[in-house]
Amino acid sequence: MQPFRLHVFVCDQVKPEGVPGCAARGSGKTLEALRREVGKQGLADEVQVTACGSIGLCERGPDMVVYPEGTWYSGVTPDVVPEIVASHFRGGTPVERLVNRDEGALKDEIRGNRDRYLATLKAKDAAGALPDDLLQTIRGFQESRVILTALELDLFTAVGDGAAAADVARRSGTDGRATETILNALAAMGLLVKRDGAFATTPVTKRFFAASSPDDARAAMLHQSSLWQRWSHLTECVRTGAPATVTEMAERGDDWTRPFIAAMHRGAAERAPHVVRAVGVAGVRRMLDVGGGSGAYSIAFAQASPALTAELFDLPTVLPIAEGHVAAAGLSGRVTTRAGDLRTDAFGHGYDLVLLSAICHMLGPDENRDLLRRCREALSDGGRLVISDFLLDEDRAGPKSAALFSINMLVGTRSGASYTEGDYRAWLAQAGFVETTRVRLPGPAHLVVARRG
Ligand SMILES: C[S@@+](CC[C@H](N)C(=O)[O-])C[C@H]1O[C@@H](n2cnc3c(N)ncnc32)[C@H](O)[C@@H]1O
Repeated sequence: MQPFRLHVFVCDQVKPEGVPGCAARGSGKTLEALRREVGKQGLADEVQVTACGSIGLCERGPDMVVYPEGTWYSGVTPDVVPEIVASHFRGGTPVERLVNRDEGALKDEIRGNRDRYLATLKAKDAAGALPDDLLQTIRGFQESRVILTALELDLFTAVGDGAAAADVARRSGTDGRATETILNALAAMGLLVKRDGAFATTPVTKRFFAASSPDDARAAMLHQSSLWQRWSHLTECVRTGAPATVTEMAERGDDWTRPFIAAMHRGAAERAPHVVRAVGVAGVRRMLDVGGGSGAYSIAFAQASPALTAELFDLPTVLPIAEGHVAAAGLSGRVTTRAGDLRTDAFGHGYDLVLLSAICHMLGPDENRDLLRRCREALSDGGRLVISDFLLDEDRAGPKSAALFSINMLVGTRSGASYTEGDYRAWLAQAGFVETTRVRLPGPAHLVVARRG
């Protein structure tokens, strides 16, 4: 079977630092260039480009093989990609100076590389070295910390389209030597480019981490800095069972609240249309968005139906942020706000839909039972409750996103956690809900929907 005229396999093998391999020799950029060029030359429906593991020519990469004929290329750097696509993929004539034609030599080289690589792995294993992927995970904090510090100091904005380290240090009010060190690390991580001694943002960092970009994510990403502080107390937290900080949301200052709601908003704005589609707005005239945060969900529901009004219930410190988003969406008349405490307050009556998005994980089981009971009271007959949250597998040992989110709650709340579908089903039944269903959505969080019985 040959669904595409040509199928191009590009080696993207990552090997330990210092061991030759295509990823280290820039196969990521080659893949990007190939996909871009194939599209540009109108071949996207004829030529399939696939990243693959080692094809054995480790010292001459980036390597690729073009099927069905099996043409083995080496040294495919981004600058030769347009020529290969035009001459070979479009015109049928391979770029001979980059093609390996000697089959015997090719086989010998592949065997030699394979044997050397296996010998290296064996020697490491015999010496009792930690597996690379484990070591990488343990050191993961280093790259995270470098990015967070760059964001805290707004270095990507200071670097802009090109600046020497000394200029960045002057603009940022930071130490010259230290600034140069961190800029070099960011360049090594592929988040800046360094040319002739000057640094510049990449397309990605310019888009997300620099001022004046419409997709500026700096405020939202600074929430990760807040979390970093908490997570650094995890050991103590596991020892004692108590969270690192015991302040409730209401007591936290603007320097926590604004990045937090900005972070919530980025995720919610992207996810809200999926939730609205999955839940539907037929028959929904009044909805209550408990702990509605930035208002992204209330806004999306109101946008989906002109007959729908939404009330966003949250802390007084958060409502001005939500009101800003609601006003910007031109929905101030149909999305209103109400200040209150979701842990204790009654929510009123007569709602067709109550939404609990990213709320239940903040609370312990007893608090959730009580919250669901109050949500039921707020619903009209036949009204629906929608819970949107991370869902753990029933044995609680996965998926990783939900299990790690439980740690986030362990260090940040008194009794919060990720829960299983079974937990929610039991609490909902106890609170008097019926027809509980789970709806899977793209991303780590899912919906549990139930009707007031
Ligand atoms: C994780 S955010 C979720 C925001 C929004 N529902 C979303 O999914 O994007 C939790 C929300 O609950 C609010 N919240 C926390 N404690 C609260 C309380 N005691 N009473 C009312 N709202 C609270 C926070 O201000 C925040 O907006």
